[in-house]
Amino acid sequence: MAPPSRPFYLVHVVIFVAVSLSVTAATATAAAVLPRGALPTKSGYLPIPPAANASLYFAFYEATEPVTPPATTPLLVWLEGGPGCSGFLSNFLQIGPYLFAGGSLSPNPFAWNRRFGLLFIDSPLGTGFSVAPSPAAIPTNQSVVADHVLAALQSFLSLEPSFRARPLYLTGESYAGKTIPAAGALIVATNPTLPEQKRINLRGVAIGNGMTHPVAEVTTHADIAYFMGLINAKQKRAAEAMQAEAVALTREERWREASAARARLMSWLENATGVVTLLDVEVQQSVAVMAAGLADFLSTAEVKAAVGARPDVAWEACSAAVGAAQEEDVMKSAKRDVEALLRRGASPTATATPTRVLLYEGIRDVGNGPVCAEAWLRELEWDGLAAFQDAGRAVWRSGGGLAGYVQRHGALVHVAVYGAGHFVPYSQGRVAQEMIEDWVFRKGLFSAATV
Ligand SMILES: *[C@@H]1O[C@H](CO)[C@@H](O)[C@H](O)[C@H]1NC(C)=O
Ligand SMILES: *[C@@H]1O[C@H](CO)[C@@H](O)[C@H](O)[C@H]1NC(C)=O
Ligand SMILES: *[C@@H]1O[C@H](CO)[C@@H](O)[C@H](O)[C@H]1NC(C)=O
Repeated sequence: MAPPSRPFYLVHVVIFVAVSLSVTAATATAAAVLPRGALPTKSGYLPIPPAANASLYFAFYEATEPVTPPATTPLLVWLEGGPGCSGFLSNFLQIGPYLFAGGSLSPNPFAWNRRFGLLFIDSPLGTGFSVAPSPAAIPTNQSVVADHVLAALQSFLSLEPSFRARPLYLTGESYAGKTIPAAGALIVATNPTLPEQKRINLRGVAIGNGMTHPVAEVTTHADIAYFMGLINAKQKRAAEAMQAEAVALTREERWREASAARARLMSWLENATGVVTLLDVEVQQSVAVMAAGLADFLSTAEVKAAVGARPDVAWEACSAAVGAAQEEDVMKSAKRDVEALLRRGASPTATATPTRVLLYEGIRDVGNGPVCAEAWLRELEWDGLAAFQDAGRAVWRSGGGLAGYVQRHGALVHVAVYGAGHFVPYSQGRVAQEMIEDWVFRKGLFSAATV
């Protein structure tokens, strides 16, 4: 394995893994048994036929306070970024029923399984508790990742007859900004070929601080850092030259070199700015400390048994092997998959309606913030684009404070979240919960009546 000067996944999840080596196992003894609410309703391994002898780990939490009948309570699927980071990072640090901090678990008042069933899938193979049968089995591109996610979802929906009719939303963050559209577009394309009882009731996708169309996004970092005041004009010119190199290599489809060029740029910017991480220019070091304790916690035999993970698997926050396997994927785009979602219907029977798309980003993220999203949205081939770009940007207030900004047209919603970086639910739990619930239920700024 010969990654570039700095593996991509490190750039993306550095706050979670950066100091893992310096943290002791002091937290490992904290909880031998998980509290009831932290125990998955169902968990284990989802076969992904036809991949030989392979399965993806999952943990499912049923809605705790649903406002809908069980048969129509929405299901959220959460896919983590990386590539190669485990969904349990978000389960225990952001959106799950219990949060891990200071070595112990406490109830999360802003959990995403309040109104919805919440399914974490460790994907791709080789991630988290999902063991790859061999190194060669780790997918190297999003089309294989999407095949596996779809196969795992089919396995999950077959576990309970009542699951399949429930409205389903693919959600996640960061590098899942590619996996989510890829899997969503595959579902939309596959549904009409399936018998009705095998179709997936996909209603929308939600992507947080996503990497989706890198060739456009990579042109923004110098501007973002400059206008945040983190670099000067001379440094901006240097960063722009590095960006241009990443773009040129991408256009020439020299994928490995393009990925390395982007990694060099981000690494150079991190060094030049001196921030702990470009993912959140105001982040506190303690986030990394907490995640490192999480690795110790999830490696204990009691905990692994409680969440249905194989005893022989060592849980890592992010897999270097998956990051290396996907190196040539980094600069590839999932824009066409987003276009397919906005254009075509997920509804297997009725008239083709678009699949709803929510993009949200914390504004303190230099790598995947709102400016990056605007850059690639400009290139979207969608007949609603002009109207979307012309739509007002509503100020979103919540709980007496500023929560962010909401812009929408048709099936597309773009939210910029105030007071957050790359990990929106981590920094703004209450606001993130309000956003996902209101978006799914079309309430507040997401209601049909709102312009
Ligand atoms: C399937 O994988 C498991 C776990 O890696 C292994 O123990 C088992 O022998 C494999 N079976 C086959 C048929 O390869
Ligand atoms: C993705 O990887 C698979 C397996 O290596 C390969 O067969 C396929 O052609 C690749 N697809 C794309 C779009 O690169
Ligand atoms: C890192 O930044 C320092 C200035 O803070 C600079 O002197 C040094 O050359 C930089 N290193 C690299 C590898 O860019």
